[in-house]
Amino acid sequence: MAAPHLVVFTGSGISAESGIKTFRASDGLWDNHPVEDVATPSAWRRDPQRVLDFYNQRREQVRKARPNAAHKALAALEQAGFQVSVITQNIDDLHERAGSRHVLHLHGEILNARSSVDNRMRYPLPKGGIRIGDLCDMGSQLRPDVVWFGESVPLFPEACDIVSEADFLLVVGTSLAVMPAASLLNHVAMETPCVVVDPDADALSPPGVLAINTTAGKGVPALANQWQRQGSLMLP
Ligand code: APR
Repeated sequence: MAAPHLVVFTGSGISAESGIKTFRASDGLWDNHPVEDVATPSAWRRDPQRVLDFYNQRREQVRKARPNAAHKALAALEQAGFQVSVITQNIDDLHERAGSRHVLHLHGEILNARSSVDNRMRYPLPKGGIRIGDLCDMGSQLRPDVVWFGESVPLFPEACDIVSEADFLLVVGTSLAVMPAASLLNHVAMETPCVVVDPDADALSPPGVLAINTTAGKGVPALANQWQRQGSLMLP
């Protein structure tokens, strides 16, 4: 029999305990950096250097960060034989560095560069980060491989297919404020159990979802340990 399929949908909260800021907290990333100045196509047209500087700085934070207990617990479940698919809104690589092998980055990956005219043309990051004048094979400026506000989310249909096949959906550390990502929860089968782990889980969980009000670093290892002991995915 195939191993039960755990689908984990993560947001910036899972990386908070690794030292990477979430977006919408009062001291969050978007508080210091207005979205419209650094994460929209019009910001890129207006001031590409500012956008590159912002992502070059963030990339350094990501490189210094280390996977935390939540990232590691998900990777350990996979090691233990569970089928684990991670769909993350995060542009960091902490799931991969923890050892997760099936990670879909809905909003792209900060450690890649891409063409600014064709989002399928991806490139390894130039040494020292992306600079004005670094070009793709079609002669357009390279940009960070991240999905900005107002852009389409090319991997969304694939993510919907994965969620629709879940035996269990675990949502960790996302305010569910950004579309279409948040609407992924609508694609889970009716009978599939769903849990949200977030210090604010009560407030943000849709009806029918079990809310666990705690941090990722506490809540995810607790669930993962329980599942490993039981050998199956069950509601706590
Ligand atoms: N453990 C778990 N969750 C946490 C923790 C923690 N230690 N600390 C904070 N959180 C939760 C917050 O309670 C909140 O619900 O993480 C969530 C972070 O929400 P947002 O800041 O809105 O981030 P996210 O949901 O990932 O944003 C989605 O929006 O700005 C865009 O593209 C960006 O991918 C991002 C998307």
